[in-house]
Amino acid sequence: MRILITGAGGQLGRDLQEALTGEEIHPATRAELDVASRTAVFNAAEQVRPAVIINAAAFNDVDGAETNPELAFAVNGVGPGQLARAAARVGARLVHISTDYVFDGTKGTPYTEEDNPNPQSVYARSKYEGERRVLDSEANACVLRTSWLYGEHGRNFVKTILQAAERGGPLRVVSDQTGSPTSTHDLADAIAALIRASARGLFHVVNRGACSRHEFARAIVQDRVEVMPISSAEAARAAPRPANSSMVSTRWEQAGLPPLRPWEEALSDFLSQHAHQKRND
Ligand SMILES: NC(=O)c1ccc[n+]([C@@H]2O[C@H](COP(=O)([O-])OP(=O)(O)OC[C@H]3O[C@@H](n4cnc5c(N)ncnc54)[C@H](OP(=O)(O)O)[C@@H]3O)[C@@H](O)[C@H]2O)c1
Repeated sequence: MRILITGAGGQLGRDLQEALTGEEIHPATRAELDVASRTAVFNAAEQVRPAVIINAAAFNDVDGAETNPELAFAVNGVGPGQLARAAARVGARLVHISTDYVFDGTKGTPYTEEDNPNPQSVYARSKYEGERRVLDSEANACVLRTSWLYGEHGRNFVKTILQAAERGGPLRVVSDQTGSPTSTHDLADAIAALIRASARGLFHVVNRGACSRHEFARAIVQDRVEVMPISSAEAARAAPRPANSSMVSTRWEQAGLPPLRPWEEALSDFLSQHAHQKRND
């Protein structure tokens, strides 16, 4: 299968290239394909003629988006719409990645695909715009909402906590945000399974279960340093985050796709591999 991956230099983009070994992959980093450029997107689709386009590109700076809404909407809103039109033109399927932050966080239980988004930050609104443009397009498209991503490549919460722990505790981590931590390795494998099936539409794709950021940090440092709970108000970030953005998928398993494992198992594997990698560096 010929597959064009945008945002190929990011943490999901890198793991996708590993998960799709054996396919004809055309990875495009931001320098090679700017998804905000209509011309670049249509040219790439015409030149590569992929069977599938996976959009792993995003403007992911949640706080930075508050002061740079034009760029956030160009990359996260307009870009996916252009990719969907280009995909429709060349007859490619589009797999687009979105976020748990489209929810306002007020639901007391995990969000399903049936729940109504109510994005609260610029980043969240820009990602919701991208979802709608893809799902309203003529393309054969899937939108996958995922959350709290971490992987070996790139910056993420797990690596930040590990580095902070190495410098010594105590760490201060918010305890009033709950979500579903998800490994980019597992998400990439899930996408590989998805593109070999014929599913279409909106799916939540996360490692099973949920925890607070504070619980997540404690699972990462495993009692090596103290982790003190603080509130989101104390953390004082520029963009609001949902209090609860944990998700479950009602549609993924209905489509016959393999469920992802519990987040604790995925994290445990990541931590052993990360430690092994560090010893060999
Ligand atoms: N990270 C999370 O916790 C999280 C949570 C929920 C959903 N998601 C979604 O999951 C997807 C993958 O995220 P990730 O964590 O792998 O992100 P990432 O590591 O930040 O990778 C995103 C990639 O997109 C590239 N990019 C930025 N602007 C671009 C543009 N205009 N054209 C083409 N590429 C561009 C970035 O390049 P530069 O590095 O050069 O800027 C980066 O390589 C995104 O859709 C994201 O919104 C992420």
